[in-house]
Amino acid sequence: MSQPYTEKVMDHFKNPRNVGKLENANAKATEGSPACGDMVSVYLKINDQTKRIDDVTFESYGCASNIATGSIITELAKGKTIEEAKNITWKQAADELGGLPPLKAHCSVLAVEGLRAAIENYEETHGLVKERKATTVEEVRRRLKKVMNPLVGLDLVKTELITGIMVEKGKVTVSVDLPETNQFANTIRQEVIEKIEPLWDVNEVEVRFAG
Ligand code: FES
Repeated sequence: MSQPYTEKVMDHFKNPRNVGKLENANAKATEGSPACGDMVSVYLKINDQTKRIDDVTFESYGCASNIATGSIITELAKGKTIEEAKNITWKQAADELGGLPPLKAHCSVLAVEGLRAAIENYEETHGLVKERKATTVEEVRRRLKKVMNPLVGLDLVKTELITGIMVEKGKVTVSVDLPETNQFANTIRQEVIEKIEPLWDVNEVEVRFAG
């Protein structure tokens, strides 16, 4: 059987560049793919004056293409300003790798979304969001779609674990259909807070478990 991956994909898969957590990161994001349950985290160190990406690393919890595309986007993004890095497309990432099998196109989408979400995280935590819309239940739900339910590797919304969302005077309350004693309750709470807290008009996030 012929190898479905280009040499470059195999190279980045076997020797991924810029792997691991970035100790002095000032932005990060984790994105999951609904197509397969794989995940990628992106860490950025952005220069607060020049808004240039001085350093970028990634961690992959997924397939070979996930690892290879995570690796290539760190190379594409390093040294760019955040505005330039926002324009990196999944097509560019895939082309840079010499192409991916069509079934694996979503892997490059995932890596690029991870990079964009990390930039968004920087903008939100540094007061750079230009369009300041009031947070809605829909926006909270959209963000909860990025929190994985570790029991099954799909997001909290898709697995119907969210039983309620309330947004009131700067406070967001999220109800989760899991007992507080569940082994993943703490991880889920932390991830929900991480996703919701950066919203500019939110100053408190409460995660309620079912009993
Ligand atoms: Fe989904 Fe690769 S198979 S990220």
